[in-house]
Amino acid sequence: MKSTHLAVTVIAKQSNGAGNLLLTLESTSAHPLPAFTPGAHIDVHLPAGGMRQYSLCSATNASAYEICVRLDPASTGGSRWVHQQLLIGDRLTLSAPRNHFPLPDAPRTLLFAAGIGLTPLLVMAEALSKKQADFMLHLYLKCHDELAFAARLAALGERVVIHYSSEGDSLRTQIPADLRMPANSVLVACGPAGFMDSLQQRALEQGWQQDQLHSERFKSDNAPITAGDSFEVEIASSGARFIIGEEQSIAEVLEAAGIDIELSCEQGMCGACITGVLAGEPDHRDEVLSQKERAANDCIVLCCSRARSPVLVLDL
Ligand code: FES
Repeated sequence: MKSTHLAVTVIAKQSNGAGNLLLTLESTSAHPLPAFTPGAHIDVHLPAGGMRQYSLCSATNASAYEICVRLDPASTGGSRWVHQQLLIGDRLTLSAPRNHFPLPDAPRTLLFAAGIGLTPLLVMAEALSKKQADFMLHLYLKCHDELAFAARLAALGERVVIHYSSEGDSLRTQIPADLRMPANSVLVACGPAGFMDSLQQRALEQGWQQDQLHSERFKSDNAPITAGDSFEVEIASSGARFIIGEEQSIAEVLEAAGIDIELSCEQGMCGACITGVLAGEPDHRDEVLSQKERAANDCIVLCCSRARSPVLVLDL
């Protein structure tokens, strides 16, 4: 099923820390924008084709959406277009919010962000603060001029610790005391792959268990390996079967057969194509499902994952 599209107008575009632009997007129709939960993202449709995913960073009850876009020096159109061509007053098409990075429920929450990975975690921190929950937000930046959302972070007071690598304070050099106390806690992290790998390694060394770790990476450094042995998928509603060749993805084969698959990142990261599995065993190759969801084997990411069993029956 295709997602709902939202029409919005850019009503503000402002600098938000070096290299970042904060966009405020208002509904162009009389309908309010859908509510969202902390950790949700939207797809922004680019005029030249394609989409980019951005975490929503406005307050969850705000009437307009905010997204913060960092200029990627290697940008092939997304962030470069936002920074250099998008103007206040321009209209954009968005997907409805999706949340594959929800805030887990735990007695204590540690939020670890690097750079612009702050965006989903800031909304989580504000939600935790509002319900007076026990949490800490650790933010890793290179230097002071990179700081985004300064006023909102200041409003969270002592719950926020900012680490500047220009001052010798990085995960590589120091392990925060909070990270040494895994009991009754969850660790929620967002940032580039190098930061996330380093954080995970340190957390495991400090006794954290995999099921306490929740994370979202900016993007895959390497697209997942989607090739493998061929297998069949069956569409539960029609009984139609399709062979997925060694070099093909399930999404590719089903789309070619005229079956609507919701796709966005096509890298196993955004969760747009998650589909229920009614029978068979998936071979999970994505970065979006949690350990628990993988173990349940009742859903699959169609753009990259495959099958361990000869046939997968999909809830389509
Ligand atoms: S399209 Fe993003 S996970 Fe499949």
